[in-house]
Amino acid sequence: MRTDGDTWDISTSVGSTALFVAAARALEAGRSTAVAVDPFAEVFCHAAGGQWAALMKGLAPQHKLHSEFGERFVDFQAARTRYFDDYFLAAARSGIRQVVLLAAGLDSRAYRLGWRDDTVIYELDQPRVLEFKRTTLADYGAAPRATRVEVPVDLRDDWTQALCDNGFDRTAPTAWITEGLLIYLPADGQQKLFAGIDALSAPASQVAVEESVPMNAAAFEAAKQQERAAGEDGTFFTLVYNEQHKPAAQWFQERDWQVSATPLPGLLTALGRPVPAVDSAAGQMTGNITLVSAIKPR
Ligand SMILES: C[S@@+](CC[C@H](N)C(=O)[O-])C[C@H]1O[C@@H](n2cnc3c(N)ncnc32)[C@H](O)[C@@H]1O
Repeated sequence: MRTDGDTWDISTSVGSTALFVAAARALEAGRSTAVAVDPFAEVFCHAAGGQWAALMKGLAPQHKLHSEFGERFVDFQAARTRYFDDYFLAAARSGIRQVVLLAAGLDSRAYRLGWRDDTVIYELDQPRVLEFKRTTLADYGAAPRATRVEVPVDLRDDWTQALCDNGFDRTAPTAWITEGLLIYLPADGQQKLFAGIDALSAPASQVAVEESVPMNAAAFEAAKQQERAAGEDGTFFTLVYNEQHKPAAQWFQERDWQVSATPLPGLLTALGRPVPAVDSAAGQMTGNITLVSAIKPR
């Protein structure tokens, strides 16, 4: 159950979704056919302990990520990680030196991608989530490969002010990302997020967005009931707002950004991964997701 102004750490509420996707990335990294390798994902899971560490040690065969749905979820994370890694590498090659990870969670790109000199990466998320990432990777002996600036903030609040207060340069082109975030924001929060990105973007800035079409209201209520009945309250559907302000492609196009939209099923096929049947739970998830990237004209 979400409330205005609710907070969390890495193991609770929306914070634990960062561990769920990190665990999926860790499982992908262990596949011989991996299309994206995040070597730090496993480190986070071990540090979090409990089900996450057990999963890494092969001691959780019943874990959701080992179900048929879970296998397809790992494919989804693999494709999404690869898409956004490629986006950032291209943005860096184009000369961009300022990066903003909105809802950074356990995104380890500041630590693992080959950034150009002088790159500054701003990471926005709730304070305890950012702290877990920083301390876990410091204990592991990993250092960021760019200047990493934490901006602890709730993205339903005035995050643009917090970003500027932490040194963001609104005259420099920026590469933004919103990955695994929009479903956890109400529609007006999504609108404010896009408006904030547009307002702070100098010409030649870029944005990459993962978004999904909301479920119909009846199916969403049923999924929440099912989650509660299974004793899994607060794991996924009960955390999601299931609202959409306006599709990202349309929103940014209307403001003259050059937009490219990639539906997830096509990307999975291109990467040699199966597209789950439309009538399966994994198929319903996959079919609704689009990865969008856009460039603001010079
Ligand atoms: C599914 S995780 C995705 C994390 C990361 N982008 C990734 O793909 O690995 C969702 C993240 O969104 C963050 N988040 C969701 N709503 C937020 C809010 N209102 N303010 C700050 N962070 C938020 C959570 O703390 C969590 O880290």
